[in-house]
Amino acid sequence: MTDENRVFIFDTTLRDGEQSPGATMTHTEKLEIAALLDEMGVDIIEAGFPIASEGDFEAVSDIARQTKNAVICGLARANFKDIDRCWEAVRHAVRPRIHTFIGTSPLHRGITNLDQDQMVERIHETVSHARNLCDNVQWSPMDAIRTERDYLARVVEVAIKAGATTINIPDTVGYTLPSESAEIIRELIERVPGADEVIFATHCHNDLGMATANALAAVSAGARQIECTINGLGERAGNTALEEVVMALKVRRDLMPYQTGIDTTKIMNLSRRVAQVSGFPVQFNKAIVGKNAFLHESGIHQDGVLKNVETFEIMKPADIGITETNIAMGKHSGRAALRSKLADLGFDLADNQLNDVFVRFKALADRKKEIYDDDLIALMSDSAANTDSDYIQVKWLRVICGSDGQEAELKLLVDGIEKSASMTGDGPVDACFKAVKAIYPTQAHLKLYQVHAVTEGTDAQATVSVRLEEEGRIVTGSAADTDTILASVKAYVGALNRLRVRSQKTAPDADVKSISYKL
Ligand code: KIV
Ligand code: ZN
Repeated sequence: MTDENRVFIFDTTLRDGEQSPGATMTHTEKLEIAALLDEMGVDIIEAGFPIASEGDFEAVSDIARQTKNAVICGLARANFKDIDRCWEAVRHAVRPRIHTFIGTSPLHRGITNLDQDQMVERIHETVSHARNLCDNVQWSPMDAIRTERDYLARVVEVAIKAGATTINIPDTVGYTLPSESAEIIRELIERVPGADEVIFATHCHNDLGMATANALAAVSAGARQIECTINGLGERAGNTALEEVVMALKVRRDLMPYQTGIDTTKIMNLSRRVAQVSGFPVQFNKAIVGKNAFLHESGIHQDGVLKNVETFEIMKPADIGITETNIAMGKHSGRAALRSKLADLGFDLADNQLNDVFVRFKALADRKKEIYDDDLIALMSDSAANTDSDYIQVKWLRVICGSDGQEAELKLLVDGIEKSASMTGDGPVDACFKAVKAIYPTQAHLKLYQVHAVTEGTDAQATVSVRLEEEGRIVTGSAADTDTILASVKAYVGALNRLRVRSQKTAPDADVKSISYKL
């Protein structure tokens, strides 16, 4: 592999991904995801936006301290205060990077009230300031695609002269098409003095479903850094999905002879973990990591695959780390079998963790005859999300429902004290949530209530996600159970626990990344 063929993978799951409303992760979850990304071979991890909140600052600093290989990057607007704060957080890294940006399109210049010359001045000052602090500086003209081409070339030149080492070209609103994405990168590389001294990056959003295609087109035109997120998480329709670009480059090496440093066998586990902690499930037909991505339903396909797997499969499940045989486990399965199965699924547990999961596994096996991989994944997610040390815990629930009306009797442990309530409602879930509120009054608004069946059959577990919003803080709770109503209450209580933790740590609005792009 020559250097020209190496494409750097810049993962922004923890910054742009976490920016999607409700996808906020806890500090521990962010550290865990960063460690998995580093292990998978991501070159640069954008760990957060340090000025956005105290929580973001601490997460970026701790990720910087713990990361062994990847460059750790933080985001900063084009002002000295943001950049200094960013440096404070990333400077602990073995390889720190400051990423500073400003909106350069006419629309964004309007918001910042800077004319073209004033903006050029601002870019020069801020990039120079960042470069004086850190020798690895990335600069982004936000909304580059809708910026006048001549002006874009001018600001890119200024940033390079001021010391930027990576120039990122964001398609902030997911507006471009592959031909244009390539054309802009090619033009900048050809016409901007000093372009050969820096790496060009592509950062695409998926509003028109083009993010992967646009990123790959940019690479074929000379970009050598792809900005992406696991599962394509991100604002609105999300960002380029890491798994898609990495696997496209792997599978179509004949047309795109570029190489990444990603160990693709780690993709599936990371995808599952990000789905769990963000509360954003992966759609079944999602490329690469969707539940159906390697399923062959029709007779012709099944027959073809059995005769020669290449007839209908362009990559192997094992390439992305799907090793499961999906052999069902049951109540006679022992601890060792469970440990080995979980290890296959990417969960390496210490003995005490295994004991806890084993108890939950046995309880599930009593209610469900056959336990499949997806059941175990749901069980692991539930164990991580709802623990015995939570401030509020579900102790007991009885629900009466049917054509005569619905009533929920509920007992919760709140800070170790048992409290109970009985409520009626419009449906069993409504009655239960009212009972929770009667015990633990809250102003939080329900933003999302979502139920999924984990497997087939009427004894399937349900995974439930509940998203709540209070004073600008948004959290998601999740739970799994064969009893959908119980899972709903656990998810709701889980969200309340998260809100409580968050309100202790941050001021109102502190989690909302709606800090303005004004300077
Ligand atoms: O989409 C965008 O423009 C961004 C920038 C901050 C790089 O995320
Ligand atoms: Zn973005």
